Amino acid sequence: MNTNQMVTSEARMSKAMNGKKPMVLIVDDRYRTFQSLPRLVSSNDFEPLWVADEDQGLAMLNSHSNAVTLIVIDINSAGMGGGGFFQKARRIAPNAAILIAGPMGSFLYQNGGFYEYSGPGLKHDFNAILMGISQKMGVKDSHEKQQKKLDKPRQRLGEIIGKSQSINAVYRLIENLTSTSATVLIQGESGTGKELIARMICQTSPRRKLPFVAINCGAIPANLMESELFGHERGAFTTAMQQRKGKFEIAGGGTLFLDEIGDLDKALQVKLLRVLQEKEFQRVGGNATYKTDVRIIAATNVDLKNAVKTGQFRDDLFYRLNVVPITIPPLRDRKEDIPLLLNHFLAVSAGQLKRPVPALTEEVADLLLHYSYPGNVRELANIVERILVTCPNKEITTQYLPEELHRKSRTATPLAGLISQLPEGGIRFQDVEKELLVKTLEMTKGNKQAAAKILGITRRRLYLRLSDYGLSTTECHQM
Ligand SMILES: Nc1ncnc2c1ncn2[C@@H]1O[C@H](COP(=O)(O)OP(=O)(O)OP(=O)(O)O)[C@@H](O)[C@H]1O
Ligand SMILES: [Mg+2]
Repeated sequence: MNTNQMVTSEARMSKAMNGKKPMVLIVDDRYRTFQSLPRLVSSNDFEPLWVADEDQGLAMLNSHSNAVTLIVIDINSAGMGGGGFFQKARRIAPNAAILIAGPMGSFLYQNGGFYEYSGPGLKHDFNAILMGISQKMGVKDSHEKQQKKLDKPRQRLGEIIGKSQSINAVYRLIENLTSTSATVLIQGESGTGKELIARMICQTSPRRKLPFVAINCGAIPANLMESELFGHERGAFTTAMQQRKGKFEIAGGGTLFLDEIGDLDKALQVKLLRVLQEKEFQRVGGNATYKTDVRIIAATNVDLKNAVKTGQFRDDLFYRLNVVPITIPPLRDRKEDIPLLLNHFLAVSAGQLKRPVPALTEEVADLLLHYSYPGNVRELANIVERILVTCPNKEITTQYLPEELHRKSRTATPLAGLISQLPEGGIRFQDVEKELLVKTLEMTKGNKQAAAKILGITRRRLYLRLSDYGLSTTECHQM
């Protein structure tokens, strides 16, 4: 299944359920094996369906094929009669993930690939698997979590500051991850706080006392990257004078943060995938095999799904990393966070300069609150720092604001850009209005209701203005 199909199938599934709870089908004849699963399933706001054997499982799947998102099979169960349940289930519910629990550990089949779960037990990763499915489908949070959502939004989690709904959703995800070591993929524009969030996930995880090792996959030349990740033996290449450990070894049983994973060279994507699957690696130029048990958190500011589509990123590696996806929206889409962040960085910068926090004039505050911050939180922090370094006064005035904020204020409305220079003799209001009516109707392909909505007027008023300008209804139909 390619990414396009996957995205649409997840969306289709979510739509097909039409507000109903997604289901988890458990095929197990021995109540003992999975006795805690239904509770776990329900607490994640999925509906558990329990059957004892393959035949019941297939019947259940046939009647709920659109709603079943995960099928859990105990391979040892007496009800598994070797009737090719796995293949049949895949055909009936092609979008569902299948978790197979066997004596050697558990395997998750999802989006065409198999992933091994070798945590301390099935339960360990079960929450993370369900969370990943919910995230990808945009399924609603459980009742308890919805209750939390209704509570006053929180303004920070550790060092992460923000009170918007979207950042509060990130707080909840981080909290839900505290007992797992599930792989996390953090996506967001540059400066949105991906590394800050990765560190927070590590600090609240069972591996918090073990190393957190970060590597920027975009900053290291491709020919050195393999050695950076897996280390090298002495003499492995001309400049390898000493044996050296790679990040996988340095991280030990801790957390490895693969930053800018979208920039990883294709040949290394294959090697990384193999290490993540087999949980062992070899140093460059060496024969010895080393076991690894790191928790992976990856981050990227490129759209990885798109990179998979264009063939720049391997789909199997993407699925392996995208177990729990976290997307951080750009700051311009969560403007409610700006005042808090602004106050925070004013206090931090003033503290560093050992001076009182300065006041802002109304105009300065307005410009800072309404700027679009293409560089996100990092840009906000930098702007505040620059202002404080250059402005010694108790109150900050507009002359200390960087040029881009002034530019923004000059082009605050789209019209400012459209009418950059008036023709000699100016333009009549009526001409502008007539042109605006024509262009808006062109945009809506003659749909007057839609045009009226865009223009912020009633349909009756639109008809009146059209007739004022001699633009008849028939002419408008042709537009
Ligand atoms: N919500 C936030 N609250 C407080 N500080 C934040 C927040 N988001 C980001 N920052 C700060 O902004 C700066 C940039 O954050 P970070 O390095 O985590 O971004 P990033 O997404 O990894 O960026 P890049 O893609 O460029 O590597 C850091 O100094 C970080 O502490
Ligand atoms: Mg970063």
